[in-house]
Amino acid sequence: MADTTEKPTADMTKEERIAAAKARAAERAKAAEQTSHAAEESAGDEEALNAAAQRFQALKEGQTVSKSRKEREAALLNRAVDISPRSTIETLPQAAPTKAQGLAVNRREFLIYAWGGALALIAVQGGLGTLWLAYPRFKAGEFGGTFTMTTIPEKGAKPAENLAGKFWWSNAEQGGGMAALYKVCTHLGCLYEWKDQTHRFECPCHGSKFNQSGQCIHGPATRNLDQFVVTALDQSGNEVDKTTADHRYITAQDGYTYKVDTGRKIQGEPANPAIAVEV
Ligand code: FES
Repeated sequence: MADTTEKPTADMTKEERIAAAKARAAERAKAAEQTSHAAEESAGDEEALNAAAQRFQALKEGQTVSKSRKEREAALLNRAVDISPRSTIETLPQAAPTKAQGLAVNRREFLIYAWGGALALIAVQGGLGTLWLAYPRFKAGEFGGTFTMTTIPEKGAKPAENLAGKFWWSNAEQGGGMAALYKVCTHLGCLYEWKDQTHRFECPCHGSKFNQSGQCIHGPATRNLDQFVVTALDQSGNEVDKTTADHRYITAQDGYTYKVDTGRKIQGEPANPAIAVEV
């Protein structure tokens, strides 16, 4: 700032020089005060600039990450609690949660549980039904169940017919041995009969012939008669013999008990041309 006060000269009086000096001092004090205000304003601008720079840096570094909905709700709740009168918050009645509220599930969970339970129930029912069908149970003495035979036919004698069990209880003298022969023809399923005249089984439908052991000796059937599984038990009830696909004839002995399982069939083997007969 330019010094506008009057400079002392040699022709001034002492009083005039003192007055001029005071005027210059006042002028300098005023200039110093103005300089100080300008410096303060400059400092304030600098602080604002620094704060803006910090906010910009924070945004740039991703510090203002968007909060999740739950976090925003929690923040809003905290703000509401903060701005609410303390007395109001503290005097609000706090109802104890009921048992139903403690176990409450939302709609989505309820539907998931309901569907899961229904599917589990269907799966269990299906499994039980399958097991029930896979393991049918027949009473003893009805077809599909077990028949107990305590007598054996004489070797070579007429086979005993078991109508309920649908089998011939046959003890052949030649060709095999004792077996429980299924009464259905292996050609197309007719019921064949025993013929005393020819001493063999003959089918009335198409003329197939089978010997007493069930072997096919004349077509059109192409395989032997089917048999049921037979188990022989001794007097103590111990199993002593049992028919299988590789062991088709059971040991015939007085005193044995035989269990014929009409639920288990052994399929007849292909016919042997070597034993075929001419009619
Ligand atoms: S069904 Fe027995 S021979 Fe045809």
